[in-house]
Amino acid sequence: MTKLFISDLQGKEEIESVFLVKIFNVMEGKDGKKYFNIILTDSTGEMEARLWHYSAEIEKNISKGTFVKVRGKVNFYQGRKQFIIAHIEKVEQNDVSLDDFVMKAVEDPEVMYKKLLNIVDGLTDVYIRDLLRNIITDGEIARRLKIWQAGKSIHHAYRSGLLEHILSCTELALHLSKHYKVNENYVVAGCILHDICKIYELTDGVNVEYTEEGKLVGHLVKGLEIVDRFSYKIKNFPHYTKMHIKHILLAHHGEYEYGSPKIPQTSEAYLVHLIDLMDSKMGSFDIIRKTDNNTGHWSGFVKHLDRIVYKSELPFYPEYIQEEEHHHEERQERPEPKREAPKPQRGQPEPKTSLGNMLSGFKVDKP
Ligand SMILES: [Fe+2]
Ligand SMILES: [Fe+2]
Repeated sequence: MTKLFISDLQGKEEIESVFLVKIFNVMEGKDGKKYFNIILTDSTGEMEARLWHYSAEIEKNISKGTFVKVRGKVNFYQGRKQFIIAHIEKVEQNDVSLDDFVMKAVEDPEVMYKKLLNIVDGLTDVYIRDLLRNIITDGEIARRLKIWQAGKSIHHAYRSGLLEHILSCTELALHLSKHYKVNENYVVAGCILHDICKIYELTDGVNVEYTEEGKLVGHLVKGLEIVDRFSYKIKNFPHYTKMHIKHILLAHHGEYEYGSPKIPQTSEAYLVHLIDLMDSKMGSFDIIRKTDNNTGHWSGFVKHLDRIVYKSELPFYPEYIQEEEHHHEERQERPEPKREAPKPQRGQPEPKTSLGNMLSGFKVDKP
């Protein structure tokens, strides 16, 4: 059976394909009848689905993380794509090609990793340069860094998303440290190390979860451990350099209420916090524009951004409007340019509709 991808499903014809179950809930309608409320995913996005006929057998066999073959039709409900399932059955993981179901960063992780190493090699503080190099070239850290997600949902929540976020922050660090005339070595160190311990905070695989260490210790404190572990191996590593790097890591969430045990008290720490915030929010907007299931210009309500998002391109005039056209415009309101939000390509990031979050007991994932 050929795999049909979520981003390509448009028409109302009946289709049959395999998807991964992201969320699986039994609901009860106003009439007291049970039904299934499901979020299906693949490498191109996610879609809401309904199975109106309850069956105890299905409830027993299918759960979050199950691959399923479904037959049904795409429906549009209140401007949102919804898949109405006529038939569903479990498929074994061995029978699917995992690549079809895992969302990935756009750029090749090996290329991103080399770019990161190049930036480190260009640093002028020899101790910070050696520390960063030793950390990111450590075998196990490098392996995980190339594939891990940056979070469970919210932003950069796809394969190699952590590396994409770290590289993006580090490139911003180079520009903005020069602009604000602050010490680039520390800003780069902060951008590389601030979230690197998400490789211990989150699991790998199709269903990313918090590890026990993630729940009990978390990536901020694990970050300090890494700095200690690797700086002890460098002869005469200066105490004050280490202290300032640790401050940046402890302060990167910016406010006490967002889990920061310290608020940023150096220009470098404050800049790392702002870069991290900017990159995570822009990452969220990007995914919504690419993958939100609503038709038209607007996304559905995005809980973690606390707003709906305008998804289409903004008006753009490389040339002046001709007089005739201008008069025409005054009489009749000009329709907005008919450009659809870019469609997600296979292999592009996961959609972040608010729906999944609403259904799964939303958990705040700090930037
Ligand atoms: Fe963080
Ligand atoms: Fe971050």
